[in-house]
Amino acid sequence: MDKLTEEQIKKYREIVSKEDKPKNTFKKANPKIKEPKWCDECGYSVDLSGKCRNCEETKELEAKNADKRKSTLVKKLGGLMAYEKYTEEAFLNKKILNDCKDFPNSNLFIYGTVGTGKTHLGTALIRRCKNFYRLKPMQIFRAIRKANNATEEQDFINRLCETPLLIDDLGTEKLTEFAFQTIYEIIDGRYERKGKGLIITSNYGFNGLSIRFQNKNICSRLEQMCECVKLVGQDFRLKGAV
Ligand SMILES: Nc1ncnc2c1ncn2[C@@H]1O[C@H](COP(=O)(O)OP(=O)(O)O)[C@@H](O)[C@H]1O
Ligand SMILES: [Mg+2]
Ligand SMILES: [Zn+2]
Repeated sequence: MDKLTEEQIKKYREIVSKEDKPKNTFKKANPKIKEPKWCDECGYSVDLSGKCRNCEETKELEAKNADKRKSTLVKKLGGLMAYEKYTEEAFLNKKILNDCKDFPNSNLFIYGTVGTGKTHLGTALIRRCKNFYRLKPMQIFRAIRKANNATEEQDFINRLCETPLLIDDLGTEKLTEFAFQTIYEIIDGRYERKGKGLIITSNYGFNGLSIRFQNKNICSRLEQMCECVKLVGQDFRLKGAV
């Protein structure tokens, strides 16, 4: 083969260098249009101001969902105060917390005089559960009365027998036949199911509560089901520790 002339080499170089160039010559044809920029986080294109709509929308949605989760929890806990204050971190008696370490794989009967931290402890512990009820006896009765029919009522009681449940301040309610029967049905329902995840708080111990109910049935079930946690000490509210 003959040696290529200078002229031919130049021509070949031109052809090869053209083929090496990207097919998309858009930039060259429209030099005023800027190259699109891409979001470092999600890879979608960003707008002219450098913002990524995709990331912004995702963040908004996440914030909305977190808000919804928070407001559901606040509602379940009975208010913002409980949400902010009644946490395990803020409960200073770590020995008692350690006694409750098995919960919700256990049932707890927490008792002690006023201000010793029953509501705080019970609430902090029930928050370990994803789904739960936290109710005072009166709230249970009110919810049952609100049911539209017997099926709805039974449905609610069944849920109270199956869902992690804190009954706060058992024994403070006015004692009526309806009150006794309702509490009995819930405790017995959970007992029969061999359920875990129940917390009762009370100013009374088992004996005091039996005397108050004038009946041993509720307390004898509770005694068999629950680990007992006694809170002692001065009223935290008076100590000025809070
Ligand atoms: N161990 C504790 N650590 C921190 N705060 C506590 C503790 N025990 C009680 N408190 C606080 O004292 C106040 C009264 O407690 P609370 O749970 O309402 O008592 P109880 O239900 O026994 O009457 C609450 O503000 C609570 O946060
Ligand atoms: Mg209380
Ligand atoms: Zn993005």
